[in-house]
Amino acid sequence: MPVTCVIGAQWGDEGKGKIIDLLSREADVVVRFQGGGNAGHTVRVGSEEFVLHLVPSGILHPGCVNVIGNGVVVDPAVLVAEIEGLRKRSVRVGENLKLSDRAHVTFPYHVRLDQLSERARGGAKIGTTGRGIGPTYADKALRTGIRVGDLYHGDSFASRLRANVAEKNVLITHLGGEPLEPEAILRDTGGHAERLKPYVTDTVRYLDEAIRAGKRILLEGAQGSLLDIDFGTYPFVTSSNSNACGVASGSGVAFRRIDELIGVVKAYSTRVGSGPLPTEETGAIGDRIREKGREYGATTGRPRRCGWFDAVAVRHSISVGGMTTLAITLLDVLSGFDEIQVCVAYEIDGESTTWLPTSVPLLERCRPVYRTLRGWHENLRGIKRFEDLPASAAAYVLLLEELLETPIRIVSVGPERDEVIIRSRK
Ligand code: IMP
Repeated sequence: MPVTCVIGAQWGDEGKGKIIDLLSREADVVVRFQGGGNAGHTVRVGSEEFVLHLVPSGILHPGCVNVIGNGVVVDPAVLVAEIEGLRKRSVRVGENLKLSDRAHVTFPYHVRLDQLSERARGGAKIGTTGRGIGPTYADKALRTGIRVGDLYHGDSFASRLRANVAEKNVLITHLGGEPLEPEAILRDTGGHAERLKPYVTDTVRYLDEAIRAGKRILLEGAQGSLLDIDFGTYPFVTSSNSNACGVASGSGVAFRRIDELIGVVKAYSTRVGSGPLPTEETGAIGDRIREKGREYGATTGRPRRCGWFDAVAVRHSISVGGMTTLAITLLDVLSGFDEIQVCVAYEIDGESTTWLPTSVPLLERCRPVYRTLRGWHENLRGIKRFEDLPASAAAYVLLLEELLETPIRIVSVGPERDEVIIRSRK
């Protein structure tokens, strides 16, 4: 794996944390390249569970260097708290963490505006995580954003921050919020910046040198391809490129330097927040998947919407992202169903299509066309070889592989680190 990238191919929460944890055993460097504290990567180590928001998952592997790339938006308070939380649990955080000086900073006004804008949208809300992600990326595009490296240029930072707060306060008050106090933000940020200083690095240079030195690099995507700002179900998306197209701009690692691109899918569909989910099951089936799969947001605790696997949507993710192989997670959650459905096409206004429509009104009119498979009742946990899976479970994986036209190399059959089947290359 010289340079490998892992991308969620659905609406986030595909179980990327576990796959990345598995791969980072062999990695020298793990890199986050987009998103921010909206992410919640869950990694189980023995009986312990870690939920990482900003720090890359490789932090749980001694000897692995972890890079928060330039495309990530960083709330300094969240990062400082996360580092402290890890240290309290005896996880080493020191020279093994690097924070890009080009990463944009999320300030309290971003968080406040995220929450107030959502409230103002009422029934049309996006269902954001409320972590200030959209407003931070918006400021980056507006060129009023402040980057990590700017925090260490006292006077110019202070005057830019004061100007931003003055401008944001107009909007905050307009939306019914309390204006923010710039001096308090300056004081708090100053404290956090001091604590983060040892990690601040030109990560573009660091990664270039690491690749030249033959280090094994793992790029860790957050959210999922269908939440990508360009290719997801816009406007019900996040504010970054969460498909593979975000790798180069968010890390400085040129796309042609990536050797392998692994898409992660869970064995069914979930989505948290608003927006189209064509295969959503709002009744007993959805409830059953949610309870068995513990489908509650790792960052917000919100119940996730659940439904059957949507091969149309995932094919779209793969066509845009160019995933070379796939990992399927949470297959064990589907044990116990007599029948399992896979969406192989959509019917829209009487017409059938296997291509994901662009606009939300069309997506909302999509009726899934299902292929029904026989289910299985056996517990899959502990199974180590693909040949030992119940025939129906193996048939399910093989059908997905055929529909997605991409080899499925990793099959996860339980939450523990080693509950995984690695399929050899044919
Ligand atoms: P934001 O990224 O907080 O602006 O939220 C935009 C949309 O992306 C909402 O539907 C969120 O629920 C969703 N979202 C953001 N981060 C994640 C994630 O890590 N997993 C799943 N959904 C996410």
